[in-house]
Amino acid sequence: MRKPIVAGNWKMNKTSSEAKDLVRQLVPLLDGVKGVDVVLCPPFTALAAVSEAITGTQIDLGAQNMHWEKSGAYTGEISAPMLRELYAHYVILGHSERRTYFGETDDVVNTKVRAALSSNLHAIVCVGETLEHRESGKTEQVVAEQLRGSLAGLNENDWQHIIIAYEPVWAIGTGRTASPEQAQEVHAFIRGTISNMQDSAVAESTRIQYGGSMKASNARELLSQPDIDGGLIGGAALDAANFAEIVKAAV
Ligand code: PGA
Repeated sequence: MRKPIVAGNWKMNKTSSEAKDLVRQLVPLLDGVKGVDVVLCPPFTALAAVSEAITGTQIDLGAQNMHWEKSGAYTGEISAPMLRELYAHYVILGHSERRTYFGETDDVVNTKVRAALSSNLHAIVCVGETLEHRESGKTEQVVAEQLRGSLAGLNENDWQHIIIAYEPVWAIGTGRTASPEQAQEVHAFIRGTISNMQDSAVAESTRIQYGGSMKASNARELLSQPDIDGGLIGGAALDAANFAEIVKAAV
């Protein structure tokens, strides 16, 4: 049985005081909710505040990106040990916004994934096709390429610390969610690809989140699909009640 995992990707939203307020609203709403991993990924500047605010709760901390080196002359960058010291246990890597606006390739994502794993961080690795890819029938090809490139060279133990987020680019922040059938089809394809890359035991145990306009009103249907093991939530994660409902739907 795969334990569901719901992560909030706050993107470039919330100052550290706003972040603390959001966590304060969220904590009581999740009180007593069990059987699901919950991760909050605020911007770097709010990591310390959120880390403190979630102490003693079941909520875990994640970052939205990191550099592959542990330290050095990389102005503006943040490393895995810096995240670890703030008690972050997860990092989102290869989000489509990083790929699109910051030129991250599968090779770059792969380097970051290896660095995250070697610092004992769980990596939430994002893949997904654009509308153009989907309409030209290239979804599976694109997703398989991203998986093989971003997750090249991992061993069985590494895979235990990998979470895949399937995020169709056309569904991110657009209000246009993939239908449960569309999402399930790609999730099953991803699981099959992992099986080919590694083996069926790894494929069966790897958690695959859906992301792209997931919210309280559509979460249950998406999460009831056999290969959807949670969600990576953008917009709806900025609202405590909405996010808490999604978490509960995942249980
Ligand atoms: P969205 O974003 O929920 O706002 O569509 C999801 C994501 O980009 O991780």
